[in-house]
Amino acid sequence: MTEAALRMDRMYGWQASIYDFTRRPYLLGRDQLIESLCPPNGGRVLEIGCGTGRNLIHAARRWPKAHFFGFDVSPIMLSKARESIAKADLESNVRVTQADAVNFPAILFGEELFQRVYFSYTLSMIPDWTAALERAADALPPGGSLLIADFGDQRDLPAWFRFVLRRWLAMFDVTPRNDLEGVMQKLAGERGYNCDFHRLYRGYAFIAALRRPKD
Ligand SMILES: C[S@@+](CC[C@H](N)C(=O)[O-])C[C@H]1O[C@@H](n2cnc3c(N)ncnc32)[C@H](O)[C@@H]1O
Repeated sequence: MTEAALRMDRMYGWQASIYDFTRRPYLLGRDQLIESLCPPNGGRVLEIGCGTGRNLIHAARRWPKAHFFGFDVSPIMLSKARESIAKADLESNVRVTQADAVNFPAILFGEELFQRVYFSYTLSMIPDWTAALERAADALPPGGSLLIADFGDQRDLPAWFRFVLRRWLAMFDVTPRNDLEGVMQKLAGERGYNCDFHRLYRGYAFIAALRRPKD
């Protein structure tokens, strides 16, 4: 196993079975991200760092005419995802595999490009998150979008709350990417993509998108 896989399996080993229940109150913005996916009929949607498969299941129910794919570096999280996808009876339309966000293969699930790609609370756990962002942007065809939900800079929240939250997130190996908006703007400029960034709940979280124009 790679170092990234070992690190995540160590983190989630005992938590995978309680993950969905315990994260619901504080991984905010995930349902807005799913709602904003709006994939074309027959389109392919890829979640990078799909964890327990919670988002893929919600998204596949919300957008039944699209096809869903996900990968995660952690075998423990993937095993929980496979169990949940089977329980939801979505195996025919939701497929998952193991890969690393930083260097996932050019052909995944037999495909090179995905009309929608998203990260949900994953970039804040990947040390080389800028490489992961660039790799994800490479997987978009013309007209495709890359969506991100994650912890924000919390700058409009009380200082004591920010301090406690940061300390608590650090225990879970989570580092909010305060410079993500700037990095996305730069990437968009270099590639001729459009970039939207929306702060949620006084900066607690954000939802952002990179959109590749149609040719
Ligand atoms: C906080 S969880 C979020 C899971 C899911 N996206 C959600 O919103 O519930 C972060 C996930 O990212 C995965 N992850 C961390 N680093 C990764 C990497 N380099 N490549 C792929 N997945 C990674 C972890 O194993 C974990 O399942």
